Amino acid sequence: MAPTTMMLLLFACAKASKLSPPAQLRAYEWPEQYHAVVVSNLTKRGGRLQVIEMYYDWPRGHGINIVREQLGGVLYNVEWTNGSSFLFDPAASTCRSFHFAVGILPPDWIAHGAVYHGRDTADGFDCHVWSNFLFQRYYADIATGRPVRWIFNGITRHVLLFQKGRVINDSSKWQAPPYCFSNTTSGDVASAPAPR
Ligand SMILES: *[C@@H]1O[C@H](CO)[C@@H](O)[C@H](O)[C@H]1NC(C)=O
Ligand SMILES: *[C@@H]1O[C@H](CO)[C@@H](O)[C@H](O)[C@H]1NC(C)=O
Ligand SMILES: *[C@@H]1O[C@H](CO)[C@@H](O)[C@H](O)[C@H]1NC(C)=O
Ligand SMILES: *[C@@H]1O[C@H](CO)[C@@H](O)[C@H](O)[C@H]1NC(C)=O
Repeated sequence: MAPTTMMLLLFACAKASKLSPPAQLRAYEWPEQYHAVVVSNLTKRGGRLQVIEMYYDWPRGHGINIVREQLGGVLYNVEWTNGSSFLFDPAASTCRSFHFAVGILPPDWIAHGAVYHGRDTADGFDCHVWSNFLFQRYYADIATGRPVRWIFNGITRHVLLFQKGRVINDSSKWQAPPYCFSNTTSGDVASAPAPR
């Protein structure tokens, strides 16, 4: 076999393996409950640096996100499995509600219709890359299965901390405050700063 043919074959094989998803998708499932800290840079969009504390609680059917803007305010976002989402500012007692067709993602969402995009390096981690209707790209660390980075609504989030099982048990923290139900502006879903 001529060396060039050999090289072409090797190249073809490398390409094929690059695009075959991992056999064990379970390694990339989310735990049913987790706490994550993610950071993003919104300055190109006229925003600021942002740190979000996320508490994902699948058994209880909700997620809470505490959004901190650099040297700015703190917003709370509660989203439910039924697609209802409230974004409120306790300091100003204002609230916006959103409705998403699909609520929070199940832990095994990758096994249900996610498209595999091969391997890539994200923030220095060797990752498998997927997308779905929510994430334009989702990067999971091959070594540990944890998320490293995702792109939602054009915004890139970098995962700084990912802790299995740590959630807020105090149910009062999960409730949208009363003013969300009495004086709520319905937000535009497309512009929702939903921190997923
Ligand atoms: C955030 O993005 C802006 C614009 O791309 C860049 O100038 C700035 O250095 C970035 N900040 C950080 C902390 O990466
Ligand atoms: C979704 O569930 C939450 C919490 O139980 C509730 O407040 C909200 O009204 C529900 N939304 C819809 C559209 O049923
Ligand atoms: C929440 O409750 C679970 C189970 O009861 C417990 O293991 C966990 O430590 C609690 N988490 C916090 C932050 O209190
Ligand atoms: C409702 O919210 C608007 C704008 O956030 C505020 O100006 C108004 O005073 C609020 N009304 C009540 C009854 O809280």
